[in-house]
Amino acid sequence: MGNILDYLTTMGLFQQLFWIFSLATAILILAYHAFLVIYYPSNLPRVGADKGNAWSAMRKQFNTDCLSLLNEVYENYSKKGKSVLIPVFGPHDEVILPPSSLAWLCRQPDNVLSSLDAQIDSIQPHHSLGNKFAYDPWGGMLIKTDLNSAIETVCAVLNDELSAAFSACFGDDCDNWKEIDLFPACRIIGGRATLRFTLGDSPEGRRLCADEGFVQSCYDVLDGMLDTAGAMASSLKIFRRFVGPWASRAMPGKLRDLAKCIEPLYQERMKFLRDQPTEKDSEPQDLIQMMLQYAVNERPEEANNLDDIAKRLALSNFGTMHQTIITLHNLILNIIDSDTEFDTVSTLRDEVTSVLGQGSDTTSKQWTKSKVAAMVRADSVARETLRVNSFIGRTVQRLVVAPSGVMTPDGIQLRRGTMVSILAHQSQTDEDYFKDPFKFDPFRFSREREAAADEVTGHPGLNHLSMVSTSAKYLAFSHGRHACPGRFLVDFELKMIMAYAVKNYDLEFPEQYEGKRPPNSWFSGFGIPPLEAKIRVKRKKSV
Ligand code: HEM
Ligand SMILES: *[C@@H]1O[C@H](CO)[C@@H](O)[C@H](O)[C@H]1NC(C)=O
Repeated sequence: MGNILDYLTTMGLFQQLFWIFSLATAILILAYHAFLVIYYPSNLPRVGADKGNAWSAMRKQFNTDCLSLLNEVYENYSKKGKSVLIPVFGPHDEVILPPSSLAWLCRQPDNVLSSLDAQIDSIQPHHSLGNKFAYDPWGGMLIKTDLNSAIETVCAVLNDELSAAFSACFGDDCDNWKEIDLFPACRIIGGRATLRFTLGDSPEGRRLCADEGFVQSCYDVLDGMLDTAGAMASSLKIFRRFVGPWASRAMPGKLRDLAKCIEPLYQERMKFLRDQPTEKDSEPQDLIQMMLQYAVNERPEEANNLDDIAKRLALSNFGTMHQTIITLHNLILNIIDSDTEFDTVSTLRDEVTSVLGQGSDTTSKQWTKSKVAAMVRADSVARETLRVNSFIGRTVQRLVVAPSGVMTPDGIQLRRGTMVSILAHQSQTDEDYFKDPFKFDPFRFSREREAAADEVTGHPGLNHLSMVSTSAKYLAFSHGRHACPGRFLVDFELKMIMAYAVKNYDLEFPEQYEGKRPPNSWFSGFGIPPLEAKIRVKRKKSV
């Protein structure tokens, strides 16, 4: 030490400052990284440790066959009320809490267990879009507060959008079967329906919904965000800030394209806000208008920046489009798959007819919120699809953010930085709760609900079994305070798309499928749909 001090005194002032500065920086960086290394308490079970399995072997099992690992975790730990540490994708670990801790988990305040920080960790929007879009997600807040009025509007007009989207993807041929790639078709149909809600309530917005280049641009940005999230998940946290710019290198170009596409819409809507701020009646009832209105009042610097608004749209589309399209894809496959045994298609057709009235062709503006809500069988088909084909494997994911950590109900003190979650798929397919748990039974929930219908009004009972009612056995939308607020829109969208499809088309699988849908696969904790699946469609002659 003395030698170093002697050495320092022989240096000039600038050299001294330089070394002191470097040393201080190095210490700061080390201290910062020390926070990113998470220590787990010794009384937290490590999966496989009791069988003498190496952690690396468990990680390998997660990477090659996460379903088998998560199934064992559910049986050996979750069902016994025990928390357990498991390896997850990349170099990361996560604490799987038992379903018995769900109520406790949902009760924790955001400054102890944070949903936002967990979402940021998995989506990495601070890298794909920028810090303020990640840490100040006001767009999501609008979904929570203002969704209802927009749903009413969407109900009335969605069928026009669906009519055009279905013609573009399924065609109008009433005489010949047509084989189509289902996933790209769902991206167009589900995407246009969602965009109709997001920005379709003005001439410029309607033009954009029908503009293939624009819809593609939305998906380019969305795919870029998914790619960024995937690359970041493979990286150790300490390297993430260096990996970030590389992982998101394609984003600026994609976002520029998106901004270019929406510029006319942006001008149209901003002009509206400038010229007619009091004429509420003619104000477009869609998400982008709510967002711009909010931005003008609360975030004026963003409102005046087209690139910022494009990024807000990108974040919103990420929430509204990705899982909705995957669910739609599973839903259509399940309807066809179950048709032979359950007569799913004609049951749904009958329901649409009884809701809309005889002889209806489902065009024009006959749909209302209450009509959509009356489709209890379609509701059951959607809920059952999310039950057996949930995209997320782990749900109610939270990051421990309290500086002093948090104590789980089973007495384990978790430190700040620990990620916790509950298994969704295994909870939803638990044989102790569901008969034939892996079977897609389209009317599993509506049978019970119709049996419990109100004798006077005929309204179905057991609302807790509806598609939007989350529970410990239905976790695809998560549960509690942060449960997906978009599910009320998904509900309407899926039912109307389903209604349109069965009323206007005959549907079947290509012969080589032998009546069975291609299965989903599990990868890195997610239920991945068979993206290459094909179906055959034929337009029904209008009645
Ligand atoms: C089938 C489609 C969808 C599924 C399965 C789904 C699922 C989820 C899940 C699991 C969460 C995490 C909740 C938590 O952290 O506990 C979430 C959050 C969220 N979703 Fe969805 N979602 C879907 C569609 C949508 C749509 C269409 C919208 C917008 C209209 C939307 C808006 C949001 C927002 C704003 C959040 C953040 C909520 C918060 O942090 O409090 N989602 N979603
Ligand atoms: C779960 O328990 C079974 C039976 O004791 C055992 O064979 C298996 O290795 C355990 N799996 C895990 C992941 O702990």
